[in-house]
Amino acid sequence: MTTTSPIGIFDSGVGGTTVWKEISKQLPNEQVIYLADSKNAPYGEQKPEEIIRLSCKNTEFLIEKGCKIIVVACNTATTAAIATLRQKYDIPFIGIEPAIKPAASLTDTNRVGILATKGTLSSALFHRTADLHAKNIEIVEQRGDGLVELIEAGETNSEKTFALLKKYINPMIEKNIDCLVLGCTHYPYLIPQLKKILPASVKIIDSGEAVARQTKHILEKSSLLNTSDTKPINFCYTNYKTHLLQDFINKLELNTRVEFLEF
Ligand code: DGL
Repeated sequence: MTTTSPIGIFDSGVGGTTVWKEISKQLPNEQVIYLADSKNAPYGEQKPEEIIRLSCKNTEFLIEKGCKIIVVACNTATTAAIATLRQKYDIPFIGIEPAIKPAASLTDTNRVGILATKGTLSSALFHRTADLHAKNIEIVEQRGDGLVELIEAGETNSEKTFALLKKYINPMIEKNIDCLVLGCTHYPYLIPQLKKILPASVKIIDSGEAVARQTKHILEKSSLLNTSDTKPINFCYTNYKTHLLQDFINKLELNTRVEFLEF
């Protein structure tokens, strides 16, 4: 492992590209290898043991590709598998968790909404974080059932997605939330639709930027930061339809060609 080794990022599918985008802004000279396990999405509906198995498989692929750090760009995989991954592999891991702490310090109504997968909301790690950082705050939890599937199908702007979002968000608005935490890396793609539903006073918070900051910090601390100024060539693999992931990559201007790979 050297400073020029790549950063490995994986997600159950296309959502982790929103984290990759933040990493590319803060670490433009780092090479990235992105792995989208779309064939097995959504992780949120799987049993924790299965999420751990899939996360190990993704990790081993990225280690074989020579990555120096692994970003688990999936809240569901982080909550279920990060402890096992850290125990099993000798490489730094960065996980992503719903941004409860920043939301707790921003709320005036003391009511924070969180939209996340079933896997994340039912995990012990999520409840520990919520208990720790939001003691006097009411957390209004909402499972985003069906949203990951719609985003994976490229339906970020469809009527169907809008109707489902309204069904999930309206009861939160009625409960007077003033912050909405996006607890799934797929959901930032829904921000334009969410803005049409939420009052302008409700802040939308996601963790992508914080994860990129933490990635930079750990690379610096481990003397693994790439200080060269050559533009990197990134790699991006999916085990499902390449054109779907390619559309997301193009939208975020990540300048990478998606390759199909059976894994
Ligand atoms: N992007 C994943 C997350 O952050 C989606 C989970 C899923 O596949 O259900 O939770």
